Amino acid sequence: MAVIFSGIQPSGELTLGNYLGALRNFLDYQDTDECYYCIVNQHAITVPQDPKELFQNTRNLAALYLAVGLDPKKVTLFVQSEVPEHVKLGWVMQSISYVGELERMTQYKDKSQKQGDSIPTALLTYPPLMAADILLYGTNYVPVGDDQKQHLELTRNLAERFNRRFGETFVIPEIKVGEGGARVMSLQEPTKKMSKSDDNQNATIRLLDAPDQIVKKLKRAQTDSDNAVRYDKDNKPGISNLMGIYRAITKDSYEAIEDMYAGKGYGVFKSDIADLLVATLEPIQQRYNELITSSELDTILDEGAEKAHAKASRMYRKVEQAMGLCRK
Ligand code: AQP
Repeated sequence: MAVIFSGIQPSGELTLGNYLGALRNFLDYQDTDECYYCIVNQHAITVPQDPKELFQNTRNLAALYLAVGLDPKKVTLFVQSEVPEHVKLGWVMQSISYVGELERMTQYKDKSQKQGDSIPTALLTYPPLMAADILLYGTNYVPVGDDQKQHLELTRNLAERFNRRFGETFVIPEIKVGEGGARVMSLQEPTKKMSKSDDNQNATIRLLDAPDQIVKKLKRAQTDSDNAVRYDKDNKPGISNLMGIYRAITKDSYEAIEDMYAGKGYGVFKSDIADLLVATLEPIQQRYNELITSSELDTILDEGAEKAHAKASRMYRKVEQAMGLCRK
């Protein structure tokens, strides 16, 4: 039985990118493996957050984890800040990482640009905390979208560096990018990834969008003028992104999609994707609406934090002993 860990930040309403790239794939492991799924709220504060919104987004994300079909009897679902070993090991990971390697992270470069002259230090030290999240549980596999490859590679390097310096302690984790889990791009700037913190509402499909919003956003999605449904990522990024979304849901190949829509134009294609998305998201939204108001959610998160803490504290103890950080 493998150990699985993944997390999502409660930094806004979840997008289709988060669902297709990560959340949906979490389900693949719950019947066979030991799964830890975390709401990484301490990662969210690496950029400024409104406290009330952060609190609400944390609950919303917990409800969405369950609404897509995760079963709390099979997986450990918890909030990062409720298991203190994450920041403790995060500090240790900072002590063995180098400023140069953190400055090379693409996410740091992208997000720090948006912060003007006041770049929070935690934006730079985000990857060592992410390494800690993963390594605390003896994780074998990390299901994430392919935008997280660089952070995962750093996690592996840090784990190997620690093991070399202080003795065999951490399992070296592997990334698992789900089938059809390629990056979902912004509907308005299709060369940029779809992100939940994007302020342009037309750029993202949110998991809780109403059917008419989904239809509208797809109608407005940037394409090109040749009106041919053909996959060409470099020259037709908008339509290629929509084809990627279609393929991720139906599992049809790009060739099959091209054949199906030959001569039909973008209008028909966009309207069919909207139908597909509405049908995919409707049952998730129904279950979400039941869960968000129930007290069941708090019980699940309390139990999850307890279970995660039990496992994480054993690993952290080993780390302290290996580094000479504890007297007993
Ligand atoms: N556009 C995407 N396509 C595929 N997968 C994606 N993921 C995020 N965007 C896409 C995957 O979703 C998970 C969520 O990770 P996160 O919340 O920790 O951080 P993120 O990658 O920074 O996600 P966002 O939506 O872009 O959040 P903000 O705007 O707050 O930075 C990860 O597994 C990620 O790969």
